Amino acid sequence: MCGIVGYIGTKTALPILLQGLRRLEYRGYDSAGVAIFDGARMQRTRAVGKIDQLSNAMGKSNWAGSSGIAHTRWATHGGVTEANAHPHIACSDDLVIVHNGIIENYRELKEKLGPAHRWTSETDTEVLAHLIESHYTGDLTRAVQTALSHVRGTYGLVAMHAQNPHTLIAARMGSPLVIGIGEGEHYVASDATPMLAYTKKVVFLADGEIAEIKRENVLIMNMKHEPVKKYVEEIDWDEAQAEKQGFPDFMLKEIFDQPSVFEDAIRGRIDVEQGTAHLGGINMTEDQMRAIDRVLFIACGTARHAGIIAKYAFERLVGIPAEVDVASEFRYRDPVLNEKTLVFGISQSGETADTLAALREARRKGALVRGIVNVVGSTIARETDGGTYIHAGPELAVASTKAFTNMVAIMLLYAIQFARLRRMTISTGIKLLNALKEVPRQMEHILEQNDCIKTYAEKYALYKNMLFLGRGINYPVALEGSLKLKEISYIHSEAFPGGEMKHGPIALISPDFPVVCVMTQNQLYDKMRSNVEEIRARGAHIILIATEGDAAARELADDVICVPETHELLEPLLNTIPLQLFAYHSAVVLGRDVDRPRNLAKSVTVE
Ligand code: G6P
Repeated sequence: MCGIVGYIGTKTALPILLQGLRRLEYRGYDSAGVAIFDGARMQRTRAVGKIDQLSNAMGKSNWAGSSGIAHTRWATHGGVTEANAHPHIACSDDLVIVHNGIIENYRELKEKLGPAHRWTSETDTEVLAHLIESHYTGDLTRAVQTALSHVRGTYGLVAMHAQNPHTLIAARMGSPLVIGIGEGEHYVASDATPMLAYTKKVVFLADGEIAEIKRENVLIMNMKHEPVKKYVEEIDWDEAQAEKQGFPDFMLKEIFDQPSVFEDAIRGRIDVEQGTAHLGGINMTEDQMRAIDRVLFIACGTARHAGIIAKYAFERLVGIPAEVDVASEFRYRDPVLNEKTLVFGISQSGETADTLAALREARRKGALVRGIVNVVGSTIARETDGGTYIHAGPELAVASTKAFTNMVAIMLLYAIQFARLRRMTISTGIKLLNALKEVPRQMEHILEQNDCIKTYAEKYALYKNMLFLGRGINYPVALEGSLKLKEISYIHSEAFPGGEMKHGPIALISPDFPVVCVMTQNQLYDKMRSNVEEIRARGAHIILIATEGDAAARELADDVICVPETHELLEPLLNTIPLQLFAYHSAVVLGRDVDRPRNLAKSVTVE
């Protein structure tokens, strides 16, 4: 995810900004840039690649200014190019801006601003720069406020103007910004890491706040220009903790990122009024979409589990045959494909060798191939003829969590989009989308049970084996819960559809074999409940994921984790989260290296 650093004070800004960018490297980035007011004019350098490349691009320039802004970019709108890197300018070189987040209506805004403006990039941020400039009449704070009143989307932004280089303007909506308080100097950044070497006193900007940051003071206002009283907090994080925003590991941070990155996934992509979704990246006309008669999901690991959920959603909503394939199997099978088969390759990294090879094979055999990818500009993103970025932000823990929920979110949107072109009614579409909009709040509610889930994990962590069961849409949830547990805690675990129990796995059941059952209230509730009772009769400990208010759950199980009710197809978005937390805490209790489990790699680029 992009990183921001700004400095205003009496020291030379350049080394502080470059050092700050290095501190933000952990967030992942593909290009970087810096802008400084050198006493006479605004200086700016940007480069694709690492901070060292930025330093090289600067050559011998040793700008002496003591105020400036800098940025590391993780591409979302537009490719990885120097022109797309921040800071951005508008028509004059005087205004510079760095921005994290997504401006949803940037196309409309760009159209309104018109071709008379000097456009040099493909980014939404450049549009924001022009918008601010178009409202600038000598007061940058007012210009930013007015510009933002026309913006839909998220931002954490810092702007600066050559006519008043002793003020940085920072504004936040949905994308974090922290202001560091020093003696006669101030820092601003997307998290506290760049400023920790200089100050531990910080102010966290809230959504809808805008800050005027000068050497001597900081004035924080709301969007109506009214002052807001803020408290200076003293943080005692070291750098490693700050990178993880206070969480002990990236995995836990990423689990807790889910409500906000889920919003990033669906933002600007749903049309509640028409009960449909718009994922333009599919690159197909509506007629082509209607002509598809079969869909295939190809992936590995966690991404494959997202694919199984997609299969259920496509069959239920779109009414066409859907299959899921393990990429390493697909590539060596003799798959039957034609030009009416749509193949989705699902991959967080966009680099998994088996998935890539399988997609090449599918394309060779005449299928339409699209990518569902997190890492922008990755090989799968480049080699497919369209698709969608899931916008989960960099996922650093090896075990995938937030990428999974965002993959599921995007596949549900695709299912809705295709279904609305075929048989699904507008009212079903609206119902599904309204339920989707509730998901972030419901995820938050589940995350509040973290402490309780931790006590369950502590209770079961010393068992050698575990079983995960689910039915229908919750079968892939059981698969994912089991995979998470084995990946990071090394506890042996398996997952089965509830109905398969009696065909083998039930022989394993004993008091030494705890079973995690996903038994939420959907059309298969009674069937799943019978499976839970069979297990209970054989003396195993049961941990149950149940719908809030299910009175039977407490009687059936030793331990219950309650999840809010949602539409059945959306259940995996919620039901997976307690299982991620359960796996996480089990691994912590056992002293495992949660972010870097043994023998596993984040991105498997070899066969
Ligand atoms: C590795 C990772 C898994 C991931 C799988 C697929 O095995 O450890 O977490 O699910 O690769 O990766 P992808 O990047 O294609 O989603």
